[in-house]
Amino acid sequence: MTVFNKESFNDKHLLITGATGGIGYETAKIATELGASITITGRNEKKLYKIKEELENSNQDASIYAHISDLTKKHDRESLLKQAAGNLGPVTGLVNAAGIGGGDTVERLSEDDLRNILELNFTSTVLFTQAVYNQMIEKQHGTIVNVSSLSGLRGTYGNSAYSASKFALTGFTQALAVEAIENNIRVNAVCPGFVNTQMARDAISRKGKRQNRSFEEQLKIVEEGLPSGRLTEPEEVANTILFLLTDAASNIIGESVKISGGSVMR
Ligand SMILES: NC(=O)c1ccc[n+]([C@@H]2O[C@H](COP(=O)([O-])OP(=O)(O)OC[C@H]3O[C@@H](n4cnc5c(N)ncnc54)[C@H](OP(=O)(O)O)[C@@H]3O)[C@@H](O)[C@H]2O)c1
Repeated sequence: MTVFNKESFNDKHLLITGATGGIGYETAKIATELGASITITGRNEKKLYKIKEELENSNQDASIYAHISDLTKKHDRESLLKQAAGNLGPVTGLVNAAGIGGGDTVERLSEDDLRNILELNFTSTVLFTQAVYNQMIEKQHGTIVNVSSLSGLRGTYGNSAYSASKFALTGFTQALAVEAIENNIRVNAVCPGFVNTQMARDAISRKGKRQNRSFEEQLKIVEEGLPSGRLTEPEEVANTILFLLTDAASNIIGESVKISGGSVMR
């Protein structure tokens, strides 16, 4: 279900990172249904081109450019932006959905996990955003949505590295939002709790293992702990992201929009 009309994104070029993942894929799918031209990116080549084909098959008019990139690599970030703009024109909307989970309790956290999580979820996301932002400044127009997390608003058990990376992203969102609005560029974040994707399933499995519980047992505990009684679906996050990208959200700036099933209310 979506609240948008078919022309909501005509003449818009959205660049969606993490498009081979659950949230990025749903964002790409709905964006093409709403008339956006999209650049999709991820590392998994087979999956990325399959998604491109699937979206083109269901939308004959869709303009989709797919580009493989590892966002932790400077060369990949540069070529992604150059090729995206070359193929579909300047990027008018950026969705930073690429991210990784993992890590452990602080006593067991490995240096590699800490560095890798911060590298993608924060440093590389900031550097890529900076490059896109500088292009948007030239046009004095654009919108950016960072996919942060409820973990970017409060700490939870066994989640220190991921949580730190998302707190950093939330802080970056707010600081950039204040600067960017002077250039008519809006920046916001979405902060979902558990979303029904591979990342959440992995996190629930890890948590279950620590407690000697099966995935199903741990999932039941997670769902029972949520006022809504269920995980968020990726489509629900995608619709929130897309709303923030439209002019209907034109005075929403620097927000961290929670999608928590009622679990976090402040
Ligand atoms: N699922 C949740 O419960 C949840 C909750 C709150 C926030 N989030 C955030 O939502 C975003 C999307 O998560 P998801 O649930 O859709 O996870 P997902 O299904 O695991 O997707 C993760 C995406 O990130 C991409 N990625 C990973 N490493 C990359 C790298 N080095 N360079 C480029 N792309 C890379 C993956 O691409 P490849 O597979 O092609 O490498 C994939 O497209 C993440 O930022 C996550 O932190 C998720």
